Amino acid sequence: MDLSFSYYGEGRKVLDDINLHIRKGEFFSIIGVNGSGKSTLAKHFNAILLPSEGRVVVDGIDTNDRSRLWDIRKKVGMVFQNPENQIVSSVVEEEVAFGLENLGYPSCEIKKRVKESLKVVGLGGMEKRPTYALSGGEKQRLAIASVLAMEPECIVFDEPTTMLDPAGRKDIASVIRRLREDLGITIVYITHIMEEIVFSDRVAVMNEGRVVMDGSPYEVFSMVDEIEQVGLELPAVPRLAQMLGKMGYSFKRMPLTIEDLMVELCP
Ligand SMILES: Nc1ncnc2c1ncn2[C@@H]1O[C@H](COP(=O)(O)OP(=O)(O)OP(=O)(O)O)[C@@H](O)[C@H]1O
Ligand SMILES: [Mg+2]
Repeated sequence: MDLSFSYYGEGRKVLDDINLHIRKGEFFSIIGVNGSGKSTLAKHFNAILLPSEGRVVVDGIDTNDRSRLWDIRKKVGMVFQNPENQIVSSVVEEEVAFGLENLGYPSCEIKKRVKESLKVVGLGGMEKRPTYALSGGEKQRLAIASVLAMEPECIVFDEPTTMLDPAGRKDIASVIRRLREDLGITIVYITHIMEEIVFSDRVAVMNEGRVVMDGSPYEVFSMVDEIEQVGLELPAVPRLAQMLGKMGYSFKRMPLTIEDLMVELCP
């Protein structure tokens, strides 16, 4: 609410009067070009950073309330861009157990959660593998499993697919969708890749520390000029749809994916 933020001692506002309400169970995407403030905003969601002005409230808890820090961190997990920087253990199962051990969970509970979390991300059976021997995509899945083991209500993903190839990207994207669909976890998904927002319920577009648009992917993709103004590019399918529109073709509903387009063109 009315959130503004400047890094220490700098006058410049990196976040400028942000107002967002992310609902429980929602898949909420935040998109913007490099330096628009996405990661700075993400770090406010679990009190890694605190507002310079305004407030951030997580499930009724103000992030300024230091006595509730661990309640907030338990509710909101974070997965970052580079899986290499998130992995601290040398064996897969130890990595997932790490956070739980620090919180003093009993070992039978830890075992259970490790097994379940690895299964959810598709790493079941890889418990004993050394972490250095995992591919980039597997490392990112491991990072997700480690967060998942803490049973958060919400997970914030800060450009989790940037280091991956197209297949790895699709793979992680489908794991994330399943977290929401099967486990009901609220997803905040940060990206600068327009294609990745098609599965979200709502999208906020950031530019120079401000939220400049906020709506469904359909609404955001329809604001063609505004999108270009903030340096983003429409994905191929909406761009094609827009060109067809200019040529006089009228769509019942703006297609976002190849599947949408097929339905529209060949009903
Ligand atoms: N620790 C820091 N100290 C000072 N300024 C910072 C710090 N981290 C980020 N900034 C500045 O804040 C602005 C927003 O950065 P931020 O990392 O939040 O953007 P972003 O949208 O996540 O960019 P990217 O897409 O490159 O990850 C940038 O101008 C950046 O230089
Ligand atoms: Mg960033």
